[in-house]
Amino acid sequence: MIRGYLFTFEGIDGCGKSTQITLLSDALTNEGIPVSVHREPGGSPIAEAIREVLLNPENSKMTNESEALLMAASRVQLLKEVVIPEIESGKVVLCDRYVDSSLAYQGAGRGLPMEWVREINHLAFESAVPDRTFFLDLPVEAALERLGSRRRDRIESSGTDFLKRVREGFSALAEDEPDRYIVLDAMLRPELLAEEILSHTKRLIQ
Ligand code: TYD
Repeated sequence: MIRGYLFTFEGIDGCGKSTQITLLSDALTNEGIPVSVHREPGGSPIAEAIREVLLNPENSKMTNESEALLMAASRVQLLKEVVIPEIESGKVVLCDRYVDSSLAYQGAGRGLPMEWVREINHLAFESAVPDRTFFLDLPVEAALERLGSRRRDRIESSGTDFLKRVREGFSALAEDEPDRYIVLDAMLRPELLAEEILSHTKRLIQ
């Protein structure tokens, strides 16, 4: 069976994931490698509808449990509808956030039990484990400065202490799985980061 690859990008809001995903996607496309890019929550019409519910600042009554379940629902939809078929057809799939975001935001950030968050995301752990996860690590203060006065979505508005727990959550996940995780200093110049990410990617796919 042909099998593609899954690379995921993680970090707190404002860490520069989307810039790096665009640069990597362009670099691989230029070399004729079939690439597909998605973002979570969202990435398919049903998953985008769930995203709208999740991020709408008016939904201030949403419980932490509903938030985690909706994240998992959006993910399972994207996985089964799009990502798994793409990996099976040999594509390189780049995902802006994935299951680690649920562990860091809903587990470490919101304080939900990690085991439960893992359980509701079992499909991701069983059928589509990332080949590499790039964690763009940035101090919370620097991330907030980058975000500036941009209008925040419901989750981004959760405060500095919340984002600090999320960052620590990602660091702990990276320590637990050093083979899958590549930790990068997101304060570095974007071009340098892009070179590093491209070299890790190519080492694996060629
Ligand atoms: P988005 O605007 O896509 O994030 P970014 O700031 O990275 O561009 O918004 C997604 C928000 O959802 C972000 O604050 C992180 C959060 N999130 C979770 O809390 N859990 C998850 O499982 C995922 C995928 C995202």
